[in-house]
Amino acid sequence: MGRWYNKILLGISIISMTGVFTSCEFKNQSIKPTKDMKIGVTFYKQDDMFISNVAKSVEEYAKTKSFDENCEINVNVLYANGSSLEQSNQVDKFIKQGYDAICVNMVDRTEAAVIVEKCRKADIPLIFFNREPVEEDMYLWNKSYYVGGLAKQSGEIQGEIIVDAYKKDKSYVDKNGDGKVQYVMLEGEQEHQDTLLRTEYCIKTVNESGIELQKLADETANWQSSQGNSKMAKWINEYGTDIEVVFCNNDAMALGAIAALKDAKIEKNKRPLVVGIDGIPEAIKEIEEGNMEGTVINNYVKQAQAIIDSAYDIITRGSITSIYGLRSGKYIDIPHEKFTKENLK
Ligand code: GAL
Ligand code: CA
Repeated sequence: MGRWYNKILLGISIISMTGVFTSCEFKNQSIKPTKDMKIGVTFYKQDDMFISNVAKSVEEYAKTKSFDENCEINVNVLYANGSSLEQSNQVDKFIKQGYDAICVNMVDRTEAAVIVEKCRKADIPLIFFNREPVEEDMYLWNKSYYVGGLAKQSGEIQGEIIVDAYKKDKSYVDKNGDGKVQYVMLEGEQEHQDTLLRTEYCIKTVNESGIELQKLADETANWQSSQGNSKMAKWINEYGTDIEVVFCNNDAMALGAIAALKDAKIEKNKRPLVVGIDGIPEAIKEIEEGNMEGTVINNYVKQAQAIIDSAYDIITRGSITSIYGLRSGKYIDIPHEKFTKENLK
């Protein structure tokens, strides 16, 4: 009896302490906060394999955190269908409806200033993610933040996957034995920070390791699997088994390339090494089945957590406190990790 009572008391005091620390107000001792927290999230579009994982993780994590913090964190997820105008209207709607924080995956990352200005006027904290505004725009207001992965790092790790494979068994990569590695490259959207930096740093990493590369072709497939598929099919026609590596700025395009290789009925041991970035479940499956050399985990679960955690912090405490390693008071960098069949063991 006494023990039970102590436990209940402990429970109550933890609940009320949480209330104090999170500044959620409790009505009549009930656990429900009097003020619901509303976070508006707008994604550049829905038809993007990686983004759909971020969206799912944001919704799941908001539920978990609501439970942990005894707060109701309502997340409203919208998609802008690739239209800046639509996204701008969505932000206006969030502001008009009194949202507590707004999270934006910019359609056009060069247009961040307009969004910053809207949120600054309304004094609603703003968290950009995945599509990074130019630095200048990030410093227009002290309540705007950015959550994302370091693009340079993802490119370097992708390059390392090829360097590792080459060092382990040269002939596994340089299949025609001419001392050079012939490659094709599928790039993401041309204005995206990830496209520019991943392309540059994966090549740089391989070059710096002393391996000689020879570019056969390089085109954009706009992050899309279907475009990656048709580009790769064209290159297979043109270069056949001369292609030794397929560098893909993301996994979705890599999946398209792998499908093209399967369709062309090229024997597995004659196929090029395909490498991607993101670590979406479909790519992990191809690695398991030996159709893909590796990927770089672009941790969408951690990114989603950082988006919600930082929004929550600013709403409840006026600043970000729970995020480890906030860079320049603005940037929350989520580290990338290498993923190959070694990780499956
Ligand atoms: C990248 C990701 C791509 C695509 C893009 C959208 O970080 O690797 O797959 O989702 O973001 O902005
Ligand atoms: Ca070669």
